Amino acid sequence: MLKRTINCGEIEEKDIGMEVIINGWLHRKRNLGGLLFMDIRDRSGIVQVVFDPATTEKELFKMLQSLKVESVVGIKGTVRKRIKANPKLKTGLLEIAGKSVEVFAEAEDLPFSPFTDENTDETIRLKYRYLDLRKPEVRKILELRAKVTQSIRNYLINHNFIEVETPILTKSTPEGARDFIVPSRLNKGKFYALPQSPQLFKQILMIGGFEKYFQIARCFRDEDLRQDRQPEFTQIDIEMSFVEQEDIIRLVEGMYKNLFKEILDVELTIPFKRMKYDEAMLRFGTDKPDTRFGMEIKDLTEAFKDSNINIIRSNIEKEQKLLALFLPGGASLSRKEINDLKEEVKEKGVNGFIEFKIKDNIVTSSYAKYLKKDEKELLLKMGETNDLAMLFIVHPKKGQETIGRIRVFLAEKFHLIPKGKWNFLWITDFPFFSFNEEENRYEAEHHPFTMPNPDELDKLETDKDHIHALAYDLVLNGNELGGGSIRVHNPALQTRIFKAIGLKEDEAKEKFGFLIKALKLGAPPHGGIAFGLDRLVWIMSNAKSLRDVIAFPKTTAGICPLTDAPGEVTKGQLNDLGIEIKNGQKN
Ligand code: AMO
Repeated sequence: MLKRTINCGEIEEKDIGMEVIINGWLHRKRNLGGLLFMDIRDRSGIVQVVFDPATTEKELFKMLQSLKVESVVGIKGTVRKRIKANPKLKTGLLEIAGKSVEVFAEAEDLPFSPFTDENTDETIRLKYRYLDLRKPEVRKILELRAKVTQSIRNYLINHNFIEVETPILTKSTPEGARDFIVPSRLNKGKFYALPQSPQLFKQILMIGGFEKYFQIARCFRDEDLRQDRQPEFTQIDIEMSFVEQEDIIRLVEGMYKNLFKEILDVELTIPFKRMKYDEAMLRFGTDKPDTRFGMEIKDLTEAFKDSNINIIRSNIEKEQKLLALFLPGGASLSRKEINDLKEEVKEKGVNGFIEFKIKDNIVTSSYAKYLKKDEKELLLKMGETNDLAMLFIVHPKKGQETIGRIRVFLAEKFHLIPKGKWNFLWITDFPFFSFNEEENRYEAEHHPFTMPNPDELDKLETDKDHIHALAYDLVLNGNELGGGSIRVHNPALQTRIFKAIGLKEDEAKEKFGFLIKALKLGAPPHGGIAFGLDRLVWIMSNAKSLRDVIAFPKTTAGICPLTDAPGEVTKGQLNDLGIEIKNGQKN
């Protein structure tokens, strides 16, 4: 084998005159003036190799001329200065005068060129994922991911954390999604669930006396996929004993400060800002506010309840809310642009908006003449010159979130989000319960192992809308990076919570009996947090999609186009498991 003596991208001027062997892929090939130029690429970069028919064996020259790109070769030759430098390449001053070649693997015609075809369908690209993985920009994201993981691992190990692997074949952990289930051959009719998170195991490790645990943990959730979700993803999972919320927050802030310094050379300011959940919902209409830009939501319901503008007054009388966004620069939009904008926001769940242009202390609009003095003054006070005040009539409960989404949509559309900012924000004081409208019942907003605010425990059964949790989320630039909580370590309280979320006693026992028993045998106060590693790398790398930071991602239909998973299984396999597919249906 022509085994490499040097990497393609590392050939330097000092190597001129040396005989070298390179290994790599045939990146590009061209004939010029009778000479054959071949760019050879390996992980380190690209170097040009030249074959001269005058000095190359005839058969070899002929073979090289017909060799297809992406074939894998070993080439021996001598480094020399290039006649015409190529400033785009690190090795652009040099080339190799090729002497001999070993073809390790001949490539067929490619289904698409990973380097030049930009518009190839993503499913095709994922089917041939290895072709895209050959691109340095794709590999760089995965290299960044590896560095991020390493930095976090080092930080936690240096802080005395123990890395522990928890099972993949396990029982359901309620994190709010559907479980992926795996049938058991040895226990017919029974199923494992893949973990939605290692939540219960990390708590059990605390009960087992580990005190500080972490894991770079695979999690599985069978949920409808969104842009920021994959059915299997990775968490940086942390749990600590004998701690309070502040201890966890401090540890995490140190971890991110260290990470951003090491990986991006960015100096983060700690402590990070904090905001209570209720305030975030009010000002930004979301529990993950992007604070890189303003345009906060203003509630005008009270101020406009006696408005002369019929549509506003009558809707407020019907218990609707009037929320406003002040779009910077929006006063310069044309009539047509504003009408188009109304159509665009309609898709987001509101029926357009009533607009007022604010310029030099004057409010203009077809509605301006109906404005009362104090209403006009309020608009001028809230807005800046050149703003477009957009007034939305919205549903009293869901309206805030709708306008929160429109706020982000407008910021993206009008490029109001400054680049290069890293706005970390803690959201605290989450409600303990959320109401599941579909199932008409209360469920735990975080998960049912979360500690309710001890001062509000009396509300657990009687005032579910107003009890808070010792739970916290970390938000970065409008994305939820992670969340955690202080846990319940008192078995009686844990049982009470199961009851409060409507879990019947026998159901609670069947699902979580082992946890309750463990809590009865000496459980320390504990708490933790988990971060989405994929999301973190996505934001840090500025990658287009979450799929770009995963080596072998699934499509939005949950399919791995490379392996064609999920696939069918044989009748024999189903028989072994005691499973029959209903009516022979595939779906
Ligand atoms: P949670 O469910 O909030 O908490 O998950 C923690 C973080 O994991 C990431 N994440 C995802 N990333 C990609 N695809 C998904 N489908 C997906 N789902 C979640 C998010 C999220 O913030 N056991 C608790 C943590 C704890 O209490 O310690 C938990 O799993 O970034």
